[in-house]
Amino acid sequence: MERLREYDIDSMRKGAECHRQVRKYSQRIIKPGRKMIDICEDIEKILRFITNQNTIHCGQSFPTGCSLNHVAAHYTPNSGDETVLNYDDVCKFDFGTHINGFVIDTAFTVAFNPIYDNLLMASKEATNHGIKLAGIDARLGEIGAGIQEVLESYEVELNGKNYPIKAIRNLCGHTVAQYKVHAGKSVPIVKKEDNTKMEEGEMYAIETFASTGKGWVTDKSDCSHYMVNEYATGEKIRGDKPRQLFNHLYRNYNTLAWCRRWLEEDGFKNHSLALKQLIDQGLVDPYPPLADIEGCYVSQFEHTFMLKPTKKEIFTVGDDY
Ligand code: CO
Ligand code: CO
Repeated sequence: MERLREYDIDSMRKGAECHRQVRKYSQRIIKPGRKMIDICEDIEKILRFITNQNTIHCGQSFPTGCSLNHVAAHYTPNSGDETVLNYDDVCKFDFGTHINGFVIDTAFTVAFNPIYDNLLMASKEATNHGIKLAGIDARLGEIGAGIQEVLESYEVELNGKNYPIKAIRNLCGHTVAQYKVHAGKSVPIVKKEDNTKMEEGEMYAIETFASTGKGWVTDKSDCSHYMVNEYATGEKIRGDKPRQLFNHLYRNYNTLAWCRRWLEEDGFKNHSLALKQLIDQGLVDPYPPLADIEGCYVSQFEHTFMLKPTKKEIFTVGDDY
């Protein structure tokens, strides 16, 4: 009961409804031939409007992920990035809303070419299966095993060649909490010896990744996503610019993630050196793009839900996914 009170279910419902409206609108602007940066800025504009974004109280909870093809997560264009969305791309849109810091984290995959239908189906079904397996006292390792079984029951034919689908072993779902996108527990998407149990009142984002590659992601260059470290204090910062930047980050994003484009919109045009100093001092953590092997394709679906005493409430479910 105590934990239930802590979480503001009403805020979660509002945040999820905002997300449904944003993604409904986004279907009209996600078109092949458009620049990724334009698509992201359009999505962010409408998200700001719908959530009535107000510094730290409500708005976007992390940058608009739009990872392409073999990149599984944590890509959003930095300014100057001219990448264009192509008909043959597989694009994972992973963006979140928050009301009073209560984080909604949900993702869907867009592909225009029907050859990827099975790839998308694999992660969509696996995510739904993971949510089905979730519940009070469910063991995280067993949920991972169930998810893997669904993911790896699929194969995809691309240009006359068959690819078995692999679960990405080093990506997982996670608990969410107020101002925290990753609140401590992880939900694997492969079989693991993890007997940790889900508990009443917890909120989870279950996300699964289907890959035609190795099923393992590594860091890539050109980082765009960052977060203030939850234990950071501004006491030991040398120099006016880094201190100004840190205070701004702390005030406007708290421990939610942000991207370099947003700093420029906020008026920090030349932030590279100040940002580097904050990273070197351990006050800001970078979250670089995570990619499987070049040439492969990855799909992702994700939902946020809560384990209430008598039911699971899937906040982010809609008539699209
Ligand atoms: Co996500
Ligand atoms: Co997530």
